[in-house]
Amino acid sequence: MTTRKQLKLGALVHGVGGSMSGWRHPEVQTDASVNFDYYQEQVKIAEDGKFDLVFIADGLYITEKSIPHFLNRFEPITILSALAAVTKNIGLVGTLSSTYSEPFTVARQFASIDHISNGRAGWNLVTSPLEGSAKNYSKNDHPSHDDRYKIAEEHLEVTRGLWDSWEDDAFIRDKESGVFFDPQKLHRLNHKGKYYQVEGPLNIGRSKQGQPVVFQAGSSESGKELAGKAADAVFTGHDNIEDAKQFYKEVKERAVAYGRSKDDIAIFPGIAPIVGRTQEEAEQKYLDLVNLTSIENALDYLGRFFEHHDFSQYPLDEPFPDVGDLGKNSFRSGTDKIKKEAKEKGLTLRQVALQAATPRSAFIGTPEKIANLIQEWYEQEAADGLMIYSAIPSALKDFTEQVIPLLQERGIFRTEYEASTLRGNLGLKIPENRYSSSLVRN
Ligand SMILES: Cc1cc2nc3c(=O)[nH]c(=O)nc-3n(C[C@H](O)[C@H](O)[C@H](O)COP(=O)(O)O)c2cc1C
Repeated sequence: MTTRKQLKLGALVHGVGGSMSGWRHPEVQTDASVNFDYYQEQVKIAEDGKFDLVFIADGLYITEKSIPHFLNRFEPITILSALAAVTKNIGLVGTLSSTYSEPFTVARQFASIDHISNGRAGWNLVTSPLEGSAKNYSKNDHPSHDDRYKIAEEHLEVTRGLWDSWEDDAFIRDKESGVFFDPQKLHRLNHKGKYYQVEGPLNIGRSKQGQPVVFQAGSSESGKELAGKAADAVFTGHDNIEDAKQFYKEVKERAVAYGRSKDDIAIFPGIAPIVGRTQEEAEQKYLDLVNLTSIENALDYLGRFFEHHDFSQYPLDEPFPDVGDLGKNSFRSGTDKIKKEAKEKGLTLRQVALQAATPRSAFIGTPEKIANLIQEWYEQEAADGLMIYSAIPSALKDFTEQVIPLLQERGIFRTEYEASTLRGNLGLKIPENRYSSSLVRN
């Protein structure tokens, strides 16, 4: 049994969807990626369903071949700020790149959302897989995979240091005496490292949950290492329970090796449930999505993971081509897996592209079947929580109305929010301010 008391749930809200052609589904609003009402409605469904958090993903480079949602979408900090004003309990998590954003900016932005939302903010730290991002940030080169993770580690150290600039009782705000703050409780970071030199202090104090929750979403060796060492939670993706259990075990072991407890980090694999009254109905809903995807779309989708490689140059029904190291410097864990599976199973390019573009998840079926699988993943330590992707808007509603009640009946999911902060709901400790806890003064 997992030690975390109950299952956690996150909802990825992704406008017109995560596929090339999902936007053509009759149910999808074609402007959903830039439609605030749509975001607000989806988040309300998730909050009514008592989800722990809503998640807004992001990337920094597009081409004509990117999926439609990536072409025209909201920037995460901006949409989370708007959502903070229209929600009460749900956590608000967004992606920001450690490679292409300064720690001072990241610290301010998430601390601000944490205050606006009364302690519900979370930062998904990504190292930015796409090489083209450098061209949008006035850089000559995209740092290598290893360097990006080294930068990320120092970035996180600095960001967290800045979040502790002010002790919790630093602001006195006494009109009578004219004392606004206690200078003893204000701390300059004075960080001088390999990648960052940051004096501080940050110009915003700590929130109700101490610091925003830090998620990490890379699953390569370096990604697992950073997660184990420093993240509060991890987003990951696995096709089957065995792989998910292995990842869970490895990340928890790394956390323990760094002197942390297993419960200091929550692991969230992503799943895309499709609910039907019968198995056939659910399968048909999945096929309706598959049938929208052409092989050309699928090749474009696949190419993005391999540094926008053009796969249309290869024969479709021959074995998946040898692309050498392509993909190693971008979505490493994902591309390593694609190459390995293609080789082991003797898959053709067509099979690989279609599987990548319209993956067939195990979580397609009746509410009971999906609830059973979720319970198995949770109880067998494959997941502390799950990130729910919805290919079409009704998928989130179906999940919330039909699967969540079963999880609640079984006692593995909450019926009410137990806390008012994201940390509280996730069962994560509030980090003590490093200065108040150690009596260090500078
Ligand atoms: C649930 C989930 C959400 C993710 N969100 C983002 C995102 O918003 N932006 C991004 O660039 N990568 C995102 N990723 C991908 C990873 O951050 C990472 O870029 C990718 O896995 C490559 O890292 P790796 O080489 O360590 O595996 C996400 C992955 C998962 C599983």
